[in-house]
Amino acid sequence: MCSFDAMKESIENVRLLFTLTTSDLQEIKEAFQEEMARGLRGEKSSLKMLPVYMGRPKGTEKGDFIVLDMGGTNFRLMKVHLNGKRGARIEAAMRQTIPKKLRQGSKEELFDFLAHHLGTFLHKCQYQDTSFAFTFSFPMVQKSVSSGMLVRWTKGFTVPGVEGEDVALLLSEALQRKGIPHLRLRALLNDTVATLLTASYQSPGFDMAVILGTGTNACYIESSTCLQVNLEENLGEEVIVNLEWGNFNRLPVNEYDHLLDISSPNPGEQRMEKMVSGLYLGELVRLILLKIKGKSSPPYSLSSKKLTSLISNDMTDPREKEIADLVFSRSAQIVAATIVAVITWLDPHVNNHHRVAVDGALFTGYRRYRKRIEEFICQLLPNKGKLIELYPIKSGSGIGAAVACAMN
Ligand code: GLC
Repeated sequence: MCSFDAMKESIENVRLLFTLTTSDLQEIKEAFQEEMARGLRGEKSSLKMLPVYMGRPKGTEKGDFIVLDMGGTNFRLMKVHLNGKRGARIEAAMRQTIPKKLRQGSKEELFDFLAHHLGTFLHKCQYQDTSFAFTFSFPMVQKSVSSGMLVRWTKGFTVPGVEGEDVALLLSEALQRKGIPHLRLRALLNDTVATLLTASYQSPGFDMAVILGTGTNACYIESSTCLQVNLEENLGEEVIVNLEWGNFNRLPVNEYDHLLDISSPNPGEQRMEKMVSGLYLGELVRLILLKIKGKSSPPYSLSSKKLTSLISNDMTDPREKEIADLVFSRSAQIVAATIVAVITWLDPHVNNHHRVAVDGALFTGYRRYRKRIEEFICQLLPNKGKLIELYPIKSGSGIGAAVACAMN
């Protein structure tokens, strides 16, 4: 048999494996809502449903703030100006990759690295104030606005001794070691929360924020009465809940998902993230190409950025293009189903208009991906899909942290 036919056969199989039907998407939506309900009741669930000690901003918050933003592969330092009239400007910024050896090394090395760069940045900005905000884009259990215990590392971090610890404390110890103990952490928050705060600072009416970048996650505004876990303090009528949806595990998985999962540093965890986010899409494509073309390359060598240029390059082998497209498309399908799950949780018949803030390079850097999500939302909600509007938010994790600082 000619090898081309064998390949065609395999691509058809990949198409089958990576295409979800409308009824699959409905099932995902329902399973997601069941997990939400369990998580809110404090029962065992793949959705952590972490309450956050912060409300909506008014839009009048004002001042200059220093933000340390630790996302996944990158970290950024920013000086953010809030004008008190819903306007924000980043006045100085520095961005750096967190080297792999720090992502997997000792906790002192990691936090000393952050403290060192924070000190240098403050010196450069000649910043007089002594407080700052920290966006830490990992699951945290928070008992106050300025502390948070890391539940689990995600996105390839494996630094021992941090899970179960207060990251605010670890950072302040590192600041002491670096001779800058006077710096005070005023707000510690997840990137989804920061994105929701950024959007809500700029204009009212957002229900939800989503991150589609190296990792994926979402938060939304819940009524406090639905939250049946013990809180340290009364949070008012509304509470922001960090879903940690990357860990949702009731999705139909195939052999490639399985292969990726078992060779990852956290098998069995972050199953949705491993099917959706930028860190993993290239790896899925690499595993498929290895199987059907014998095309070998080192693990994680195909970034999602390379994938997008592969799709838009006329010179690319059309079969590779199709595979990349299928993997992106399934990611968009899952995101559409889970956004619809959250919105219909809040408003079962979608009687109102809903605004969803979205940040992350996968979404902001790839128009076709965004269009796909919108199309799949309409497929799931044929007459109401257009009432859910996705708003791209720029620098959400930085500006929102400044807003949190101003609010506290
Ligand atoms: C991972 C983290 C989560 C974060 C997301 C996006 O899923 O666990 O906290 O929000 O990545 O950065």
